[in-house]
Amino acid sequence: MACDDDANQDLADLALALIHSRHSVAPKRLDAPGPSAAELQTIVEAAACAPDHHGLRPWRLVRIADDQRDALADVFEACARDRAPDASPADIDRSREKAYRAPTLLLAVLRLGADDPDVPATERTLTLGAALMNLLLAAHGLGFGAMLTSGHAVRTPRFAQALALAADEQAVCFVSVGTPNGKAKVRNPRASAHELMSDWRR
Ligand SMILES: Cc1cc2nc3c(=O)[nH]c(=O)nc-3n(C[C@H](O)[C@H](O)[C@H](O)COP(=O)(O)O)c2cc1C
Repeated sequence: MACDDDANQDLADLALALIHSRHSVAPKRLDAPGPSAAELQTIVEAAACAPDHHGLRPWRLVRIADDQRDALADVFEACARDRAPDASPADIDRSREKAYRAPTLLLAVLRLGADDPDVPATERTLTLGAALMNLLLAAHGLGFGAMLTSGHAVRTPRFAQALALAADEQAVCFVSVGTPNGKAKVRNPRASAHELMSDWRR
């Protein structure tokens, strides 16, 4: 029906506008306010709409509260010292400073347990990736800036232990969300469809 067609076109236009206008905003460019509790719930529930083979929910988010930033800085510092025992005070300051960026800081954790042989690690990782994409888009739609960042520390056993991750869990990246304090710079130029898609040639 024409009415449904119009509604679908409006939805497609909105979705495409949202997707094409999103760019990551570096954590140091994200100021308060971050999302309210209700907005954060909306954002996380958008993440939960990601495709998920067998509905395993192979991921979770750990929220780092404001009063936990010093503890996170201590973990970053310890990881930096593990990596470079002769790290300079400036290096240590840089490692600690990352804990204080962005008003809302989440850690994305992937669960790679062997509880379903039909859903290999690649698929679980894709589910987390799709969830994070939804999260970024929802944050953008609500007027916030956001970015995924990882770094050496998140891949260390010390970090996993400090964040109390289970044996089958893996820290993947931080998600920073807040209010952009300037114009987001375009980081990766977008590829065209013909660069990404080709016909099957046998
Ligand atoms: C899991 C993951 C971790 C990332 N970690 C970093 C990082 O530590 N530092 C960084 O500059 N970009 C990192 N990126 C890339 C940025 O999040 C961002 O996608 C990239 O700069 C392109 O910007 P755009 O989102 O505006 O296209 C990471 C991306 C992913 C998917």
